[in-house]
Amino acid sequence: MSHLIAPSLLAANFFDLKTDIEMFNKSEADWLHLDIMDGVFVPNISFGLPVIQSLKKHVTKPFDVHLMIINPDKYIQDFKKAGANLLNVHYEACNHLHRTIESIHQSEMKAGVTLNPHTPVCLLENIISDIDLVLLMSVNPGFGGQKFIKNTYNKIDQLKELILKKNSKAIIEVDGGVDTNTAPLLVRAGVDVLVAGSFVFQSKNPAETIKWLKNL
Ligand code: DX5
Ligand code: ZN
Repeated sequence: MSHLIAPSLLAANFFDLKTDIEMFNKSEADWLHLDIMDGVFVPNISFGLPVIQSLKKHVTKPFDVHLMIINPDKYIQDFKKAGANLLNVHYEACNHLHRTIESIHQSEMKAGVTLNPHTPVCLLENIISDIDLVLLMSVNPGFGGQKFIKNTYNKIDQLKELILKKNSKAIIEVDGGVDTNTAPLLVRAGVDVLVAGSFVFQSKNPAETIKWLKNL
C-alpha cells in the first residue's frame, strides 16, 4: 500500500475549522488525526468528545484518534459514539493493555498502541499480533511544532523487524516533526502513515502540502 497522510487538527485554525475541514475533505489526505490531551498524561489540554462529534457530520474521511489521557479504558465507547474509527492508546497509560485492545476491538474500532520516544519497541513483543497499528511518537507528546527526534529512525527499523518476526498485520504511523526534511526519509524507511500538524496547516497552501506528502 502507498503511505497514508493524516493531518493533525491540533494545528488547524480553531476560529475557522470549517475552512480547514473543507480543504481537508477535498485534499489527498487519508485520515484526520485528532489529538486528545487531558493535562495529566501530557502537560497540555486540547479538545474532547463534543468537538469530534460535531466534526463527524462534516468530515468525509476516517478519524484517527490519539488519546494522550490516563485511564483510556473509561472512554472507549464514548469515542466510538463520537465517531472514532481508529483508537490509539499510549503504552505508558495502560496497565492492562491486552484488555484495553480487546475492548477497542469489541467496540468495532481499529486499535493502535502509541510509544513515547523513550519507550522501547521490544515492549510490544507480546501485543504486536493483536493490534492494527503502532504509533511511534517522534516528539514528546503534548505540543505541536516540536523538533523531530532522530532515534525514531532506529525504532522504525526495530518495529519492522518485530512485525516481520511475529507475522503481524500492524502498520506503522509516525507523529511529530514531520516536515520537508523528515517526511522523505520516513517514507523511505517504510512508514505507512505520516501525521503532520504544523507542516500542513501553517503552510501557505495546505492542500498542496498534503499532495506533496502523499506523492513522496
Ligand atoms: C503531539 C501530537 C501531534 C502533533 C504533531 O503531541 O500527538 O499529533 O499534532 O504536530 P507537528 O506535526 O506540528 O509536530
Ligand atoms: Zn498525535
